Amino acid sequence: MHFELSEEQLMIQKAAHDFAINECLPGVIERDEKQQFPKEQILKLADLGFMGMMVDEKYGGAGLDTVSYVLAMEEISKTDASVSVCMSVNNSLVCWGLEKYGSEEQKQQYLTPLAQGKKDGELYIGAFLLSEPEAGSDATSQHTTAEDKGDYYILNGTKNWITNGNSASVYLVMAQMDVSKGSRGINTFIVEKNTPGITVGAKENKLGIRGSDTHSIMFQDVKVPKANRIGEDGFGFTFAMKTLAGGRIGIAAQALGIASGAYERAVEYSKQRKAFGKEIAQHQAIQFKLADMATRIEAARLLCLRAAWEKDKDIDYTLSSSMAKVYTSETAMWVTTEAVQVHGGYGYVKEYHVERMMRDAKITQIYEGTSEVQRIVIGRSILK
Ligand code: CAA
Repeated sequence: MHFELSEEQLMIQKAAHDFAINECLPGVIERDEKQQFPKEQILKLADLGFMGMMVDEKYGGAGLDTVSYVLAMEEISKTDASVSVCMSVNNSLVCWGLEKYGSEEQKQQYLTPLAQGKKDGELYIGAFLLSEPEAGSDATSQHTTAEDKGDYYILNGTKNWITNGNSASVYLVMAQMDVSKGSRGINTFIVEKNTPGITVGAKENKLGIRGSDTHSIMFQDVKVPKANRIGEDGFGFTFAMKTLAGGRIGIAAQALGIASGAYERAVEYSKQRKAFGKEIAQHQAIQFKLADMATRIEAARLLCLRAAWEKDKDIDYTLSSSMAKVYTSETAMWVTTEAVQVHGGYGYVKEYHVERMMRDAKITQIYEGTSEVQRIVIGRSILK
């Protein structure tokens, strides 16, 4: 067993770090306040090859491993989690699923521009449409329907909480064909956003990751070509679960970045701020907080890297990704709250960044499977 990163992994980590400092840090507070989608940053990420990091080069990707992806996600999330969630959804939930389960035609037509993050010089990203108004954790209860009409399908229904909902060009949509078949009656379809019958709802006004683009999407008699179904008939729910297992590694890495970003700011601040005649870092009350933050973050990092390593080695990573996600997201919530505490009153105002990180951390315990869902997956896995 060894813990060293390769030359290439270190290079990716450095590139992501530099990108976060040079491209994401300027304006991050304003984008959060105005709920502004970071389009300029995503286009630059696309130029770096970070929107299709793990996709084979023959489909326009960067051909990197999942460990590199985790390193990049951590670095970018230290500064701007609204940028990194967009990156995570495109990489893990959209590109990975298409590369693994899509047909050659689907890969040529959709995966290649999605992995490049651009088509004809314009932003070209994807979204994953599983959640519904009444189907969040209970994802098998899909109310969106797909009707087989011979050469095409007709989709009707509403999807909720869709990251990249307005900025995406391509949606991966899960829909129920036959309720009596339960999860085996679900299919996943590639749907172009500009298809007639699609309406994008207003942007959600969120607690955190406010720059990211979260919307409801309504489908009314939307015609989808037969060729746009992913995999065999009835494969849609398995597709969603398999894809989410990888997605959870991305969100775990995002939570890791939010935690380590807040921790680094807390360390820096505690070495500058004086109270009772010395830097607050010299007080045991603060030192113990920093020690616990560092220890929990390191444990979270090892869980994330372990899950990524298993995915790269083609070992079943369902358990490790859920463990990484639940532990890292809970660490992020705890660490960011403590980072605000270390900053005192300054932590409660925007210019010190940690209050945003505390707000951003919360969603990592909710999306791509709540902490409760991760515990279901872990519990079932260890007891089977
Ligand atoms: N891999 C392959 N197949 C799987 C699987 C996996 N990891 N997990 C479940 N399945 C299969 C099961 O084997 C079963 O198949 P059979 O009927 O053939 O045996 C079928 O799927 C149904 O599984 P369950 O009976 O276990 O289903 P359940 O109703 O008990 O629910 C659950 C399981 C784990 C709770 C699941 O519903 C779940 O993960 N829910 C959370 C959904 C989620 O993560 N949503 C996030 C939305 S996306 C998002 O947030 C993106 C964004 O924009 C940021």
